[in-house]
Amino acid sequence: MNTLVLGATGGIGQALASALAARGGQLWLSGRNGQALAELARRLGARAVPAELGHELEVQALAAEVGPLDLFIYAAGAVVRQGLRELGTKDLERLFTANLKGLLLALKHLSFRPGARGVVLGVYPELVSVPGLAAYTASKLAAEGVLHVARREFRREGVRFCLVRLPAVATPLWAPFGEPPKNALAPAQAAERILEGALADPLPETLEVR
Ligand SMILES: NC(=O)c1ccc[n+]([C@@H]2O[C@H](COP(=O)([O-])OP(=O)(O)OC[C@H]3O[C@@H](n4cnc5c(N)ncnc54)[C@H](OP(=O)(O)O)[C@@H]3O)[C@@H](O)[C@H]2O)c1
Repeated sequence: MNTLVLGATGGIGQALASALAARGGQLWLSGRNGQALAELARRLGARAVPAELGHELEVQALAAEVGPLDLFIYAAGAVVRQGLRELGTKDLERLFTANLKGLLLALKHLSFRPGARGVVLGVYPELVSVPGLAAYTASKLAAEGVLHVARREFRREGVRFCLVRLPAVATPLWAPFGEPPKNALAPAQAAERILEGALADPLPETLEVR
């Protein structure tokens, strides 16, 4: 199985990478932090493919290197905690690049084997539709819209997609809040539940991790 994890240096991405490495097959790990990525890949016996997901040429090069995939997990992301009156343009660009543009560019350039699976980490809208998270919520719901269309456009290629709704998971994503909520899942717990669904037959269109 040829697998790519985007956002592999993140809290959930690293846990997914560890769980996938234990299952065998060719594993590609991508993130921006080349050194952290190389160390992770070495430890797990995987291959590192650093890329800034906002740069089309880097995504294109990554796609060429990893070749046709059986499993693709989009675990990249970013959060901005700012009220609507405070939104900063640079923060918006960083957020929409990580949560949306990177996904669009990945779907533009990656190639898939018939029967391939694409898994995208998402949210419970009711949990994130709170003051300070307008842009985050908008970007995550827009990514869901991308998946609706991707299911139709990639049907001919035999690619299926799963949206994974996650509750709070204790990762660096929570840094703007100081710390994750007390009831947050550990990344390893989240990763096991994600993979249980992502590798199930048939692949669910939506997987609700609790
Ligand atoms: N944690 C939660 O409670 C939670 C809940 C629901 C959904 N989610 C979703 O789960 C996904 C993973 O979240 P996480 O908690 O693991 O976040 P995280 O620990 O902050 O990791 C984010 C990952 O995204 C990568 N990334 C960000 N911007 C990028 C860019 N422009 N190009 C390439 N890589 C980029 C980071 O790479 P670098 O290391 O290079 O920065 C890192 O690997 C996100 O989509 C998030 O919305 C998380």
